[in-house]
Amino acid sequence: MTDQAPVPYAGPVRVLSGVQPSGALHLGNYLGALVKFARLQHEMDTFIFVADMHAITVWQDPALLADQTREIAAAYLASGLDPAKATIFPQSAVREHAELAWIFNCVARLGWLDRMTQFKEKSGKHKERSSVGLYTYPVLQAADILVYKATHVPVGEDQKQHLELTRDIAGKFNHDFDRPGFFPLPDPLIQGPGARIMSLRDGTAKMSKSDPSDNSRINLTDDADAIAQKIRKAKTDPEPLPENLEDLAARPEADNLVGIYGALAEMTKAQVIAEFGGKGFGTFKPALADLAVAKLGPVGEAMRRFLGDRAEIDRILAAGAEKAREAAAPTVAEVREIVGFWKG
Ligand code: AMP
Ligand code: TRP
Repeated sequence: MTDQAPVPYAGPVRVLSGVQPSGALHLGNYLGALVKFARLQHEMDTFIFVADMHAITVWQDPALLADQTREIAAAYLASGLDPAKATIFPQSAVREHAELAWIFNCVARLGWLDRMTQFKEKSGKHKERSSVGLYTYPVLQAADILVYKATHVPVGEDQKQHLELTRDIAGKFNHDFDRPGFFPLPDPLIQGPGARIMSLRDGTAKMSKSDPSDNSRINLTDDADAIAQKIRKAKTDPEPLPENLEDLAARPEADNLVGIYGALAEMTKAQVIAEFGGKGFGTFKPALADLAVAKLGPVGEAMRRFLGDRAEIDRILAAGAEKAREAAAPTVAEVREIVGFWKG
């Protein structure tokens, strides 16, 4: 790579992120991603999409995919994203993502992709039977971001490595084609207590859509009873809550529940400990259940309300797709010229 310091990107700030329409959304997605999207739309130009092209890296029933996309859109709206402020759209409606992804496939190096831990986790023992798309998934993610020249990408902790790859691709493109500062090196926005929510059954495993136990996660569509029951059943130890952060860090399940409380109440873990340290889970869990029901109940209800009018969701997504295309097209036109593609 270049020996000189990279020329900084001089374009405007812009937020971009997305969630895959593959399985029900859970508390981790909500706190790690959706809440941040809604907050950022007031601060910056914001693009939020439904990653249906990423979803088909593993099998999706074609008869269900469009409706799964609407569900994610409904979750965005229910979490407070406002189509008058943010551009909300389906990834596959903007073909520029795929076109730029191909070019980036030729910029990214095999060695870079070989290091991606999420591919290793998702492909499991049978790597040779995974789709090629699952392997180049982070390259498409880089195209999603850079086709809008986005500068800020709110995601959960598990996406950190994909964001590093995006920066590497942007830097190599700028360097190889001698266009310093053409693409920004986007910053991941990961900070905050919701960045890594763990399973309710195992404080060392990430809360995930693919966990076979439904009790391991709180789904955005769970009703009040289900939410309260899952928190009541959450794995804990018999000790009262610790009185300081070092002791808390040594107890993953307690740490996770304190983190969830903090993220929902917009408090730091230290503040939660100041309130509940020394108290037993018999006191803390009901308080957490009440808080979770109060915060998530209305989100689930709003989601159901939005899903009651699918035509309206479709209108929002179509209008968003049009705006997104307008933003993406000039980047791809420039990139085509930069790489020397056929004109016409
Ligand atoms: P996915 O459902 O994998 O498309 O993830 C959507 C967003 O939710 C991404 O920004 C993830 O980083 C975030 N996310 C997923 N699981 C968690 C979790 N357990 N804790 C915090 N954020 C998460
Ligand atoms: N890979 C992300 C996830 O699983 C989803 C995603 C696709 C994304 N493209 C993106 C997130 C671009 C941020 C920016 O969560």
